[in-house]
Amino acid sequence: ACGSGGGAETGSTGGTITMGFAQVGAESGWRTANTKSIQDEAKTAGIDLKFSDAQQKQENQIKAIRSYIQQKVSVIAFSPVVETGWDTVLLEAKRANIPVILTDRSIDSDDTSLYKTFLGSDFVEEGRKAGDWLVANASGPTNVVELQGTTGAAPAIDRKKGFEEKIASKPDIKVVASQTGDFTRSGGKQVMEAFLKSQPKIDVVYAHNDDMGLGAIEAIKAAGKVPGKDIKIITVDAVKDGMQALANGEINFIVECNPLLGKQLMELAKKVVAGEQVPERVVTEEGTFTQEQAKTVLPQRQY
Ligand code: AHR
Repeated sequence: ACGSGGGAETGSTGGTITMGFAQVGAESGWRTANTKSIQDEAKTAGIDLKFSDAQQKQENQIKAIRSYIQQKVSVIAFSPVVETGWDTVLLEAKRANIPVILTDRSIDSDDTSLYKTFLGSDFVEEGRKAGDWLVANASGPTNVVELQGTTGAAPAIDRKKGFEEKIASKPDIKVVASQTGDFTRSGGKQVMEAFLKSQPKIDVVYAHNDDMGLGAIEAIKAAGKVPGKDIKIITVDAVKDGMQALANGEINFIVECNPLLGKQLMELAKKVVAGEQVPERVVTEEGTFTQEQAKTVLPQRQY
């Protein structure tokens, strides 16, 4: 129980924290696991969660954030679908004295006073890990096709950047085509079908997430080629379906991106609402998986 008068300050009644969470969508297995983690951990933490799904559209996320401001929630958390275009709505939250936490994806803004903290992965580092693996495993001229995530999204921009940084040391490795598959399985499949028609020689697919990689596998098989052998595949995430394909030999390497952010998010929310200091950046710890490692960890994989 809070002291008298505390309720108005936290935008809550009876000391219960209300969180408005504006999720990106339900575009991937990763996102499904992330949503579940947030919903489960809010319950465990006794936080009243108002949840919205923006179907990968920035305008929907902005609408959701405005409605949370109107409802005077204690804290707003969101995973921005794209990096830019948030200053106006976040300024509205700031003026309403509602703290904002960024989770999973960050924004590109000069005004860091618009949010309290950012909890999530280092996407550039993920791209570097993918690039490192290819540099270590490629032999001779290697043509790569890249399936990018959602245009303008932090993980798409950063995973491209980190990967390019690493392969720059090997002139034999060339990205011959790069296009967005919007982080979805159907997007990955469609773009890969087009690549298979337009590119005379594809050695490697670098997909910014498992789902697009899984879509590419379908396209490769339909074209009569063997995924993982004729065309090597590198993805990011390490969700169960991706790990299964890795263990089966259809994917060659996966860089982990951890979606289980719920627990840390609720801890940060409690601190922020209480007016305590929090670090401005909390980085998720994650690894990588080879085919052999996938076989070992798959039975215990939670998501
Ligand atoms: O922002 C994280 C990314 O979003 C995941 O890697 C991808 O699967 C999801 O759609």
